[in-house]
Amino acid sequence: MKYLLFTIVSIVDLISLGSAISQRTFQEIQEEIASYGDIAKAIINLAVYGKAQNRSYERLALLVDTIGPRLSGSKNLEKAIQIMYQNLQEDGLENVHLEPVKIPHWERGEESAVMLEPRTHKMAILGLGSSIGTPPEGITAEVLVVTSFDELHRRAPQARGKIVVYNQPYVNYSSTVLYRVQGASEAARVGAVASLIRSVASSSIYSPHTGLQEYQDGVPKIPTACITVEDAEMMSRMASRGSRIVIQLKMGAKNYPDADSFNTVAELVGSKYPEQVVLVSGHLDSWDVGQGAMDDGGGAFISWETLSLIKDLGLRPKRTLRLVLWTAEEQGGVGAFQYYQLHKANISNYSLVMESDLGTFFPYGLQFTGSDKARAIMKEVMCLLQPINVTQVLQYGEGTDISYWIQAGVPGASLLDDLYKYFSFHHSHGDTMTVMDPKQMNVAAAVWAVVSFVVADMEEMLPRS
Ligand SMILES: *[C@@H]1O[C@H](CO)[C@@H](O)[C@H](O)[C@H]1NC(C)=O
Ligand SMILES: *[C@@H]1O[C@H](CO)[C@@H](O)[C@H](O)[C@H]1NC(C)=O
Ligand SMILES: *[C@@H]1O[C@H](CO)[C@@H](O)[C@H](O)[C@H]1NC(C)=O
Ligand SMILES: *[C@@H]1O[C@H](CO)[C@@H](O)[C@H](O)[C@H]1NC(C)=O
Ligand SMILES: *[C@@H]1O[C@H](CO)[C@@H](O)[C@H](O)[C@H]1NC(C)=O
Repeated sequence: MKYLLFTIVSIVDLISLGSAISQRTFQEIQEEIASYGDIAKAIINLAVYGKAQNRSYERLALLVDTIGPRLSGSKNLEKAIQIMYQNLQEDGLENVHLEPVKIPHWERGEESAVMLEPRTHKMAILGLGSSIGTPPEGITAEVLVVTSFDELHRRAPQARGKIVVYNQPYVNYSSTVLYRVQGASEAARVGAVASLIRSVASSSIYSPHTGLQEYQDGVPKIPTACITVEDAEMMSRMASRGSRIVIQLKMGAKNYPDADSFNTVAELVGSKYPEQVVLVSGHLDSWDVGQGAMDDGGGAFISWETLSLIKDLGLRPKRTLRLVLWTAEEQGGVGAFQYYQLHKANISNYSLVMESDLGTFFPYGLQFTGSDKARAIMKEVMCLLQPINVTQVLQYGEGTDISYWIQAGVPGASLLDDLYKYFSFHHSHGDTMTVMDPKQMNVAAAVWAVVSFVVADMEEMLPRS
């Protein structure tokens, strides 16, 4: 009943907007989408209960157990790309090819942080991506603990010559990550010699969570790493008691010239509108800790699974369904930017861009960005997933690797699940197959396959604003 109500609201919205789509046309679209009920059930049955059960999980486990983590610029990443190129060909997919991209190459080297005062304590750290290293003897300095950029600016005179420790609370990823991205430059502006951030994580069992940081032009580059939530809070307590804290930080991090890499592409070519595209994607690179199983092995492998499921059922959508496994997402969407530059001439023929990069646990629903008309259509499509009870269409379809297309007006979708769990393991040693659940991946793959197939097969492209 809930969904009937939504439908009525959508139609009323469309009429009141004076939209180009008439009520009759929208009813026709509704009927067209409803006619995919049997196909949706067949996809769900194959993925969740049938022969493809656990396939995406098992394929992923084989890759990440064999290769391990896949940092931008590493040999591991290039091995993984070559294996995937072979896998996609052996799976019988079409137009399997690699598109060259130059990507950043940073290595962390040996690193350590030891508290010398008020007591000796060896801390768990992870250098942040693109950070410079310290001199070989390290940097030994007194600590200034702050909880926000505001506090840093208020206490700017005290920061000179110190190691700034940020003990910022975790609010949500998109706002708290600014401390990771900008923390070093903000500290350097007020004369700090290094900075350490409290890991950007929703929970912690003494786990550092790395990620990219960005130096700003004209600001001195200082070494920067993340520490655990536990150590950040402890230093905050020590400082508030007036204790003097001294840390010796050693980091062997180095930046090397850009390396050669590839976006990995495969297709099911459309039967009627082969030039038109629905894109499904995840990224193959990861950080250099854990296995990169969750971020973003899961997203990459349910995207591959989507094409496998549709092929196994002998289906071929009218539009081309294109799988892209991005390279160097973690370095700021480098592969995705290259892909956009290369393919944007065809932007008018992209119906929908999809990216799964927030986990492949049991999905809450689909996050979507697009016109009201397109959203109304996506709500109808999601009704096809009633048998597995994943029917919500939420806001914010954005993801790093599809953002270029979305900003240029192409509708975009991403998979939403338990973000508290996701950001507990994100960019840490804990991102391994142990976090992944085959049954949840089956459902995530079914959602991904039903949505992408139906949008690729409907008579018309999704309407834009
Ligand atoms: C899929 O994984 C689940 C959970 O581990 C297990 O119970 C089930 O037997 C597996 N199915 C197949 C076909 O291996
Ligand atoms: C994250 O938190 C900030 C600050 O409270 C808020 O403005 C923003 O809307 C939140 N973002 C999301 C995606 O929830
Ligand atoms: C753009 O689309 C045309 C077909 O419409 C295709 O031949 C061409 O290869 C595409 N170009 C790129 C860069 O994707
Ligand atoms: C888009 O696809 C149509 C056919 O579906 C084709 O005629 C047109 O040339 C394509 N546009 C671009 C920019 O490739
Ligand atoms: C279906 O999902 C909704 C949330 O999207 C949840 O509240 C409800 O309990 C679920 N129903 C079943 C039968 O699992």
